[in-house]
Amino acid sequence: MSKPKVILTRKWPAEAEAKAQELFDVVLNEDDHKMSVDELKAAMQTADAICPTVSDFQINSDIFAVDGRKCKIVSNFGVGFNNIDTDAAKAAGVVVTNTPEVLTDCTADIAMSLLLTVSRRVGEGERLVRDKKWDGWCPTHMLATKVTGKKLGFIGFGRIAQAVAQKAHFGFGMEISFYDPYPPKDEVIKKFSATQLDTVEDVLKGADFVTLHCPGGGANTNLMNAERLGMMKNSAFLINTARGDVVDEPALVQALKDGVIAGAGLDVFAKEPTVTEDLLSMENVVLLPHLGSATTETRVAMGLRSLANVKAFFDGDEPGDRVA
Ligand code: DGY
Repeated sequence: MSKPKVILTRKWPAEAEAKAQELFDVVLNEDDHKMSVDELKAAMQTADAICPTVSDFQINSDIFAVDGRKCKIVSNFGVGFNNIDTDAAKAAGVVVTNTPEVLTDCTADIAMSLLLTVSRRVGEGERLVRDKKWDGWCPTHMLATKVTGKKLGFIGFGRIAQAVAQKAHFGFGMEISFYDPYPPKDEVIKKFSATQLDTVEDVLKGADFVTLHCPGGGANTNLMNAERLGMMKNSAFLINTARGDVVDEPALVQALKDGVIAGAGLDVFAKEPTVTEDLLSMENVVLLPHLGSATTETRVAMGLRSLANVKAFFDGDEPGDRVA
């Protein structure tokens, strides 16, 4: 029997590509270019499955509606799937899956890195040393903000948030509060001695650090607007490893300029890979190029998870990570 034809929209780690070649008649993206909309449409017409990712053009209703579509499953390489219009997928009868769990710890590690780096002025200090501008230790040099024992507020308290809470609470003695419309089980809340709050605003008002762990798009677009940023303490820091569009970037820039909040650690941006000149010029922000899941172990695991979903589908089973 011939193997299903599968197109990977970007280059994957070698181990995951090798597995794809073993399982399927696979088309790799050898030069790792961003596929055009026309290429994505052609992929839909020629492949049984495509495996896209966050930085692709959105697989939208136009792409799902291409004439002679052959593709039956879109298996995302990534946990966030705002790069796929799931309503359009449902309307077209195409299955959509994602890759949860395997990237939880590494993304949480990056959230903690941002939290520590921005509050302890690590980026600034490193630039000072590299620029050969450091003229020695003194009691008042580069004083920053202590992390241990501070209050950490979560917007969204799913898997990645809980992994951050694990590190922050048990490693740094941080007090945990959160807002989530779908709260976890009581035992999870008890484990972190966490305070469940009724609104986003309640979290913002009390926290020394606010970390975002909600999906992007829809009602969460610009969730962190000028008004909500204004509810944070002047001494507080905002951490975003979720999606760039959750933060109103111009409002954030203004809040940072006006001292409404103390700083921000950002792994995601509204219009990736563009980062505004304003953000680039600020010392009280830490800017990372969407590194949340970027370890070899995790990216291989994401590839294998995406392939497992495709395999389950063509084996006639329900893919484990179906989101549409
Ligand atoms: C995801 O999986 O949603 C990440 O943002 C990509 O690493």
